[in-house]
Amino acid sequence: MSASTYSLKESIKQLPRSIKRSVWRSEAATPEQRRAAAVFENVFLHVHPARVHVNTLRTGYTLGLGLAAFYLFLILLGTGILVMFYYTPSTQLAYRSMKDLEYAVSFGVVLRNMHRWSAHAMVAVAVLHMCRVFYTGAYKAPREFNWVVGVCLLLVTLLLSFTGYLLPWDQLAFWAVTVGTNIVAYIPGLGEKVRFLLLGGNEVGQMALLRFYVLHVVVLPLVALALVGVHFWRIRKDGGLSRPPQTDAGATRAS
Ligand code: HEM
Repeated sequence: MSASTYSLKESIKQLPRSIKRSVWRSEAATPEQRRAAAVFENVFLHVHPARVHVNTLRTGYTLGLGLAAFYLFLILLGTGILVMFYYTPSTQLAYRSMKDLEYAVSFGVVLRNMHRWSAHAMVAVAVLHMCRVFYTGAYKAPREFNWVVGVCLLLVTLLLSFTGYLLPWDQLAFWAVTVGTNIVAYIPGLGEKVRFLLLGGNEVGQMALLRFYVLHVVVLPLVALALVGVHFWRIRKDGGLSRPPQTDAGATRAS
């Protein structure tokens, strides 16, 4: 057999491995390095560290509350986009479009209730997550900045709830937002101006509905997404989740 035939045969045999190497360029030698490389080189997995402290894996420490808040936020984004296909932000049509969604659209009532209950749950879970962070002392240095980011996230969550409340345009929504924006008017000095800016006028009407709609479906979700990104990035930069000092003896586990 000639040398050239041999090298062609060898190249064909090596083809699957060459293709694999061209996609995953890992030269890692040990199984542990290979596991770490799989995390580093994958755009979705690299959000998570390759190694974490064992305390981080204890469900009893975080109670999974931060992640639960995040998953509820994702459900709200998904169901919110679907609700937008049916909702019309007009004082004439808003109430009717919500009733149509409930009574004329297949699974519309499930969709609306998933959006509503996930919103209530997200507020409750975010508050419980904040209590867990406080109880475990995770607000202390070096995590104080992430605590502030968390407070902003809670504020945005509450604002999302408040702006969403007006959208069905029923009696409950109308009067709740009338009372809420009247309270805003009591801010010393700026109150009246902020109320006017929020409502686009002096009373709760079409302009207020449109402003609350834009805040609810564009502005606040974008702010929340940006803050969640900073919140998660910051956890990595602060050296992972907090842990009791006596567990710091280098106990890490590949995730
Ligand atoms: C509203 C949306 C929020 C989301 C989606 C969220 C998400 C998360 C996630 C996934 C973690 C990882 C640990 C865990 O699951 O507990 C975390 C940690 C943390 N969160 Fe939040 N969070 C939110 C609100 C808050 C609030 C309101 C605060 C406090 C005011 C806060 C402060 C912190 C701090 C300081 C950590 C680090 C905890 C540690 O190192 O033990 N977060 N957050």
